[in-house]
Amino acid sequence: MSSITRALAYSQANQNRFVAELIDLLRIPSISTDPAYSDQVTQTADWLVDHLKGLGVEDAEAIRTKGHPIVVGSITVDPVCPTVLVYGHYDVQPPDPLDLWTSPPFEPVIQEGVLYARGACDDKGQMFMHLKALECWMQTAGTPPVNLKFILEGEEESGSASLPGFIESHREELSADVVVISDSSLFAPGIPSITYGLRGMTYVEITLTGPDRDLHSGTYGGAIHNPIHALAALIAGMHDEGHRITIDGFYDRVRPLSDDERRAMSALPFDAVAWAQEVGVRASLTESGYSVLEASTSRPTLDCNGIWGGYIGDGAKTVLPSKASAKISMRLVPDQDPNEIAELMEAWLRARVPESIQLEFRMVHGAQPVLIDRQSDAMAAASRALEEVYARAPYFTRIGGSIPVVADFKHLLGLDSVLMGFGLDSDAIHSPNEHFGLDRFAEGIDAILRFHTHYAAG
Ligand code: BES
Ligand code: ZN
Repeated sequence: MSSITRALAYSQANQNRFVAELIDLLRIPSISTDPAYSDQVTQTADWLVDHLKGLGVEDAEAIRTKGHPIVVGSITVDPVCPTVLVYGHYDVQPPDPLDLWTSPPFEPVIQEGVLYARGACDDKGQMFMHLKALECWMQTAGTPPVNLKFILEGEEESGSASLPGFIESHREELSADVVVISDSSLFAPGIPSITYGLRGMTYVEITLTGPDRDLHSGTYGGAIHNPIHALAALIAGMHDEGHRITIDGFYDRVRPLSDDERRAMSALPFDAVAWAQEVGVRASLTESGYSVLEASTSRPTLDCNGIWGGYIGDGAKTVLPSKASAKISMRLVPDQDPNEIAELMEAWLRARVPESIQLEFRMVHGAQPVLIDRQSDAMAAASRALEEVYARAPYFTRIGGSIPVVADFKHLLGLDSVLMGFGLDSDAIHSPNEHFGLDRFAEGIDAILRFHTHYAAG
């Protein structure tokens, strides 16, 4: 029997235990954005170190940072073999609103072959496939066919603040030929894809202050500019009737979609009506001139993520509030720069804030957009691996989400990433009832094993 056949058979024979281990990992609420969970984030890093050591990664360790720990480890087979750097993130999004979960987010359950838990898909479940692929090699061939390095992050969902510095100061330890990441999606059930484009991000928080304290709206209403009204007007003014963003200079660096890309995208089997219905809206809203797929993956956006101010408790309170705030994220495409976009946004706001109101502006985090070269040995190996598992060639697609580290690997280490994801848009990542089909967990491990084999064969 060939070594890949034995590794695949081992995976199949051990699926139940693999899933049981994943469930242990999912039980730890590693919510990176909420300081109340920082012990649990560290506990998850330690769990991964123990697990990696158990698989034979003797040098595995959780390295402390100013934020959450970064887990690293490596298996060197032979310096002449290519080296694959595996990136994943073990932190998760907050689970709220909790009342919309049908089972508690950190008490994983399996229903009809689907595993429900926060992080099941994004990204603990997908990250864990790479650890289990390593186990398959170690327990059959004794070593993988490539050198493997792991870098598992605990801050991805909150902006990866510690990661660029860590990469810069660990260049040697992280040197590799390619990065592989499973933190994205299949194009559709049974239809594999390789992601070659990710959007970037500028995330800002703004607070408007009018009067220096909350006022009685009877005594003062009619003669004071209400900061909630000012904020609402500003936000409403951020798009025009064509749903284009009005921030001056926002589109200046946007690389237009090529005719080839637009043609390839329009040939994908994508049903925009069904897509809208699936999320419960009657119609989509896109920047004029762009299809739903183009607008949601390859054009820049601006979204208000949260807005607050004044009285939001039960009943009525007649208050003219002192403050109003909003969180706003902008998804960027090449060649927009996150810091420059923040500056343009601040300038746009400052030019429009009413005189009687003060603006506080804060950039929360940023990420560079990326496009990855599709012509490489690693892409060819991934494409072949996915074709073998799904009996059809993968599409090459751009996605609208962001994985900040991909640009860091490129700019700091010169490394391209292969984004081979097994999620589905319908897996409810970042939402209540996040889930991951166990069929895709098994397929992912198979594809990773096959990728190692093809990449090693060069
Ligand atoms: N796994 C997602 C990226 C993703 C989103 C892939 C949608 C496929 C479809 C990742 O964990 C994520 O959510 N990233 C954040 C990054 C942000 C905080 C800079 C995102 O895109 O919001
Ligand atoms: Zn993720």
